[in-house]
Order: sequence, then C-alpha cells, then structure tokens
Amino acid sequence: MENIEKKPIVKFKVITIFPDFFKPMLEYGVFSRAYKKGLISFETIDLRDFTNDNYKSVDDEPYGGGSGMVFKPVPLGKAIKKAKSKKETKVVYLTPSGRVFNSDIAKELAKEEELVFICGRYEGIDQRIVDLYVDYEVSIGDYVISGGEPAAMVVIDAIARHVEGVVKEMESVVKDSFYDGLLDYPHYTRPETYNGRKVPEVLLSGDHKRIELWREKMKLVETLTKRPDLLEKAKLTQTQKKLLTEIKEQLRKLT
Ligand code: ADE
Repeated sequence: MENIEKKPIVKFKVITIFPDFFKPMLEYGVFSRAYKKGLISFETIDLRDFTNDNYKSVDDEPYGGGSGMVFKPVPLGKAIKKAKSKKETKVVYLTPSGRVFNSDIAKELAKEEELVFICGRYEGIDQRIVDLYVDYEVSIGDYVISGGEPAAMVVIDAIARHVEGVVKEMESVVKDSFYDGLLDYPHYTRPETYNGRKVPEVLLSGDHKRIELWREKMKLVETLTKRPDLLEKAKLTQTQKKLLTEIKEQLRKLT
C-alpha cells in the first residue's frame, strides 16, 4: 500500500473557567465545519478541575495589595502541564499587554501541531506562570475586555483559517484582507443597481484581466485611504508600486 503521510491536524486546547463559552464555535460556521471534518481538534480545559479546595477557587488577592484578583499559579501550572502533550507545544496567553495579533502571527501559529491558550480574568495571572510557561503573549487590540475567552475565540478562528482545508478555497484566504499586508478590494453582488448606485462597469465586462487589475488597484486605494500605515510595511510587487504611484498622482490631481 502507498505510504501516504497523514497531515497533522492542529490541536487547539483552551484553559478557561468558562468552557461553555466556546460551544458556539463548534456549532456554527467555518470553524465548526473544520472541527466536524477532523481538520482541527478543539478542547477546553476547565481550570477549576485543578483546584483542591471546596470552593474550587482559581484566584486570590494580589501580593502588595490593590484592586482585583489574580489567577493562582498552582492550578494554572497543573492545567498547562496537563494540556501540553509534548514539550514543544506553544502556550499562548491572551492579555491586553501582549503583542497585537495580526495575520503574520496567525500564519506563524497555524504551523504548530498543538497550541494551548490561557484565558485570564480579573487582574491577570501570576507572573511566574508567564515567565515559566508562556511562549506568546497576545492581545486582540488596545482595549480591555472582561476576560480572555472572546480574545481566544478571535485568535483561534483566525489561526484556523490558515490551516489547509479549513477554508474550502485557499484562494479566498490568500485574497483576504491582510494576507499580503493590504486591505481587500470592494465586493458587489446582484442587483446591478441598488438605491440608484450601479456596480462598477468593469465588474460586468467579463474581461478577467481588467477585473484583476481593477481589484489590485482597489486594494491599494482602500489601504491608502483607510490604513496608510499598512503600506509602509507591505512588501509591494513592482506592478503594485507602479499602480500606487498612479493612484497617488490621480488623488493629487483631485485635491
Ligand atoms: N483580555 C482582556 N483584554 C484583552 C485584549 N485586549 N486582548 C487579549 N486578551 C485580553
């Protein structure tokens, strides 16, 4: 028999005090379909299972005083050890103090076979856990939400989109905003005229070369007008650079 090497699936493991939070992920949409097909695996680990007091308490007051509570290191350390099936497994801690998540981090993490996520609550987790076990501190943006669970959902969904087979046509992932560091072009569907506004003529032309060029140009227009900061980092092709010069020239004439 032919020796076909089985592609490893990405195992997502989430340490949380609210395992039910993640149920909808397994019931709806792209992530759920990939999970049911066995392209990815997903598991929650209830932090309270690693406590040994009657109240199953996971948090305690901060040393030095101050407001809020801190996740205790002992249950969390045990949960992480249980979650990691091998030494190399990367641990991701969702925190507003982390590196702001983006498409490059998603692509990088999608290469891992197993990822353990820690969802914090309250004021955070004991720093010794971060120092000893955490490989990536990740934030979903410069604001604070009430716990790491919604952040973990966002990050896990974005990572899963880069796992082969999760999105039916990889082409749509490649064309997603941010894949090449640029925003997506505008999309239109029927009807041809809506509230007096017509779909751009080129999209009805059937001329695929022109459509491709228009989309390429619109990606640059969108990025230049909405997120010029992205253009400074994007690695543009020669064609894109030429198009961008043309766009800037056209915009300059308009103002
Ligand atoms: N927990 C609270 N706020 C967060 C944020 N912005 N990103 C990730 N985790 C968080």
